[in-house]
Amino acid sequence: MDACLSSGQQPRPLEEAPSPPDDETLHTDGTSRCPGDSNEIEASLRSLQKFVPTNYASYTQENYRFVGKKIVIQESIESYGAVVWPGAIALCQYLEEHTEELSLRGAKILEIGAGPGLVSIVASILGAQVTATDLPDVLGNLQYNLLKNTLNCTTYLPEVKELVWGEGLEQSFPKSTLYYDYVLASDVVYHHYFLDKLLATMVYLCQPGTVLLWANKFRFSTDYEFLDKFKQVFDTTLLAESQESSIKLFKGILKWD
Ligand SMILES: C[S@@+](CC[C@H](N)C(=O)[O-])C[C@H]1O[C@@H](n2cnc3c(N)ncnc32)[C@H](O)[C@@H]1O
Repeated sequence: MDACLSSGQQPRPLEEAPSPPDDETLHTDGTSRCPGDSNEIEASLRSLQKFVPTNYASYTQENYRFVGKKIVIQESIESYGAVVWPGAIALCQYLEEHTEELSLRGAKILEIGAGPGLVSIVASILGAQVTATDLPDVLGNLQYNLLKNTLNCTTYLPEVKELVWGEGLEQSFPKSTLYYDYVLASDVVYHHYFLDKLLATMVYLCQPGTVLLWANKFRFSTDYEFLDKFKQVFDTTLLAESQESSIKLFKGILKWD
């Protein structure tokens, strides 16, 4: 996949999109306690089968590798939210390469439109306290992937929570208790009818000090129109981009005046 980004300030070609490691690599990786390999954890996962949604007729498994770990993502082509999109890979690469600079260890992170969960998994492995959110239909598969890849190998087990853009935010995420160091979003902008609600949600979730990291493949004129609106409310920095693949990664800090 052509998710090789480069930063304007520090040209830094990111690694090729991760390819599945071979079995030998995995079995000799003594540092990894991530599930997928251990009988003990497989037993725990069996008890989590209730999280797997039944409305997808078929699943496939895709392997990724970040932070030296194999990550197995259960996907289904029957839902936008059940496949990993290119923005997710770009954002994972960025998080992995800037872990120290971003102070991710212990950071409070909320991901919107988390889909099958790759970004939240990588952020968890990097030591963050993650809440992954999405539409209700997607949450079963998201929960399954998060547990499969983080159980017993992260400091904080990621949480899963429903968050429908622009709906019931004050009830589910009351302002009085709301604080995230980072709000993460990958490929949440595409051809759908909820772009205004998405932007309002991004604004709602940001407090002073919150950094929004948004990676997206730009495909449609509406994507650029969204970016224009985004820039009106967020101080926006382009952190990295790939002209070849049209993926851009932005940092947004909410304007407070
Ligand atoms: C293109 S997918 C991207 C998934 C994931 N972030 C990735 O990059 O692999 C868009 C995600 O946004 C979610 N989504 C779409 N409309 C939404 C809405 N109105 N409220 C909350 N999530 C929504 C979808 O369920 C899906 O998981």
